[in-house]
Amino acid sequence: MKRFAVLVSGRGSNLQALIDAVEKGYIKAGIAGVISDNPDAYALERAKKHGIKTFVVDYKSMGRREAEERIAGILEDLVVDLIVLAGFMKVLSPEFVKRFRWRIINIHPALLPSFPGTHGQKQAVDYGVRISGCTVHFVDEGVDTGPIIVQAAVPVLPEDDEDALSERILQYEHKVLPFAVKLFFEDRLKVEGRKVFIEGYKKPDLSPLINPPLDI
Ligand code: GRF
Repeated sequence: MKRFAVLVSGRGSNLQALIDAVEKGYIKAGIAGVISDNPDAYALERAKKHGIKTFVVDYKSMGRREAEERIAGILEDLVVDLIVLAGFMKVLSPEFVKRFRWRIINIHPALLPSFPGTHGQKQAVDYGVRISGCTVHFVDEGVDTGPIIVQAAVPVLPEDDEDALSERILQYEHKVLPFAVKLFFEDRLKVEGRKVFIEGYKKPDLSPLINPPLDI
């Protein structure tokens, strides 16, 4: 059985979506452990409830270099095939990214390359775009710049504030992140330059992939 680790910093609703997808057999891999930089992250409770090992690497008590060494050590002990950043608020160093090349994926709450970095939803509201969304991508050395695996477009309503848009986007995050992880473990994702090719997807299948149906 293949295994992955999930890195978190907070509430962990995306972690929950992954746990549910694993338990349903939608993702054919197990969660080997959850690592948080925040000792108070609710995500840790969610993991424990499902009998998943948890680890806290508190960046405050050490530098980034040491923290990343510890994270890398945990990941190597756990023997994982994939690292999923699900609301992990630290930027990983280029050295860390190289060490796990094309084995780290991230969920970002905007349609990249628009609105990278923090508060992607607020950036979209403030800019006045009509459509935003979320993006699952492989992590490269930049911030939110890596090859894109899957995106979902989400409408932005004129009366939206950051919270309202975040909540709407989140429903899609919970679909596209498990979907991308599922594809990874089916060995269907091939990175070529900036592009990710999904093996076995024919053109007519693409639209539900880009815009999963959802009642909003
Ligand atoms: C999500 O919006 C994710 O895209 C962003 O941080 C939020 C984490 O939410 N990077 P949760 O902890 O998964 O509930």
